[in-house]
Formats: sequence, structure tokens, C-alpha cells
Amino acid sequence: MMRKLALPVLAAVARALLSRRTRRAIALVMGGLLVALGYVALRPAPPGEKLTPKERERIYAALLKHVERGGPNHLHSRRLYHYAPPFAEAAGANVHVVQAAALLHDATKEDGKGEPKEKFCTHGEQGADLTKAVLSEIGKSETFTETASEAVREHMGPCGFNWSYLSRRFMSKFCDRRFPKPSSAEAKVLYDIDMLDLMTVDGVVKVAELRQKNPEFEKEPLEASVRSGPDSAWKSVVDAKQTLLTEKAKSCGAALAEHTKIFVDGLDFAKVTDVPALKQAAAAYLVASPLPSCLPVVPPLTDGPSP
Ligand SMILES: [Fe+2]
Repeated sequence: MMRKLALPVLAAVARALLSRRTRRAIALVMGGLLVALGYVALRPAPPGEKLTPKERERIYAALLKHVERGGPNHLHSRRLYHYAPPFAEAAGANVHVVQAAALLHDATKEDGKGEPKEKFCTHGEQGADLTKAVLSEIGKSETFTETASEAVREHMGPCGFNWSYLSRRFMSKFCDRRFPKPSSAEAKVLYDIDMLDLMTVDGVVKVAELRQKNPEFEKEPLEASVRSGPDSAWKSVVDAKQTLLTEKAKSCGAALAEHTKIFVDGLDFAKVTDVPALKQAAAAYLVASPLPSCLPVVPPLTDGPSP
């Protein structure tokens, strides 16, 4: 009973104490506050921070300070830059952050600190530091810079255990360490497009060539490097496919694995006995069977300042 009376009594007291004008002012302020709160809750998300053409050129120039022009790291980073838009859009990630990270993710692979294996296994961390320095220098916001830098730190894959080979996946096994998992949408997209590039026919050639030429790997027949060895290029394709994170990349990965498998299964190792012959076979296969259309076509390399 007392409770029921309390509100009307309080309202009557307030009416008596406050003038009509004051009550009107309070009502106006409250109404304004409600409208503002509604706007904050319902407004569309602001468009993400972008890269201007000049900023793209500066990031690309930073990459070219660290890697050989026309070399594998330059071309791979450029491909990822061009793969980024549809995968980032489908995953709700900021395309521009992914593109900045794509250009710089492997930038320290050639001239980073440490002996070759250490340099390779820490290029995510070293690349993250470089990304932070480059993006801060050109004036990107802290959020943009941090997101891109963390994506670079978290791009090291494929990681974990491959149950179909009963063996650890490439990066975990080779480096014998744990790597941080991609956390943001941008990091997931960078990781995925990096894995997709590894899964292509050219990715297979790259891994096989590394295994054939790099003194850190034991001598083995080309066939073992390509498809039958415990750490073959084909195993890297399977490793990569198993770890894809975003839906669009998963479906593209399935198409790519199929396309690459036909190439690998069709190789006649009685004829294809060395890396140049493998490269020739890959080029001929790609003319006859172009890459699945889920991977954007990469424009030809020019000497210009744009990626
Ligand atoms: Fe990398």
C-alpha cells in the first residue's frame, strides 16, 4: 500500500517543487538523451580506415627495401595483396588492413635477424615489428596498425597435427614451436590467403624446389619432394587445407586441392627428373587447366610504384 502511494506522492512533490519551465527542460534533455542513445545503437558501422594510393605505394616500397624484386617473396606478397579483397569482404574484414599485412607479412624472410632457420621461424614476429614501424611512420591509426601487425605475427602456418599423415604440420614440425593462432577477422583472412597460395601448383613447385635445393633438407628424389615423401609438397597442400579458417577460403581450398592433385598425380617422374622439368610441367598444366576462378587473377608485374 505504502509502495503504491510512494510514486504518485513523489510526482506530486516534484510538480510542486519544480516550475513548469524546469519540468519541460528536464523532459527535453531526457528526450534528447534517448534519441542520442538510439542513434548510437542503431547507426551503421562506420566505414573502416582505408589506404590511400600514396600509402599503398609507401608500404610496397617498404617491402621492396627488404626482398629481392621479382624474387619468390616479392611475388608471393604481391599475389596475396591481390587475393585479399573478395576473401576479406566475405569474412567482414577490413580489406585495407589485410592488404597492408599481405604486403609486409614475409618482408623479413630475407634480411631478418638470426641464422637462416631462426630467421625463417621468427619472421612472423619480426614482420609484426616491421609492420608496426612502417604503418606508424605513414600515419595509420593505432587500431589499423595493431590489427595489421598482429595479423602478421599470427600468419605462421600450417600448424598443429595432421592426423591423416600422423605427423605435425609443416611449420610446427620444421620450427618445433607453437605459434599464436589468428585472432581477428583480418588475421584469419591473411592466414587463409597465405595457405591458398601454398596450395596452388606454383606452391607445390616452390616447396619441392626448396626441398631439392636447400642444404637443410636431406637429398631425396624429386618424386619424394613433390608427392610421396613424409614432408612432400603435397603434404603441405593437405596441411594447409586442413587449417583454413574462413568459409570462402575453405570452399576455394577444396577447388584448389583438387586442381593441384590432378597435376601432382599426372606427373611422370621418369621424364620429370629435376626442378626445371617440374617448372615446365607446371607451366604446361596451367595453360591447359587454369587455376580455379575463386582465386583473383593477379595483374602482371610492372616496374611501377603500385603493387
Ligand atoms: Fe610467412
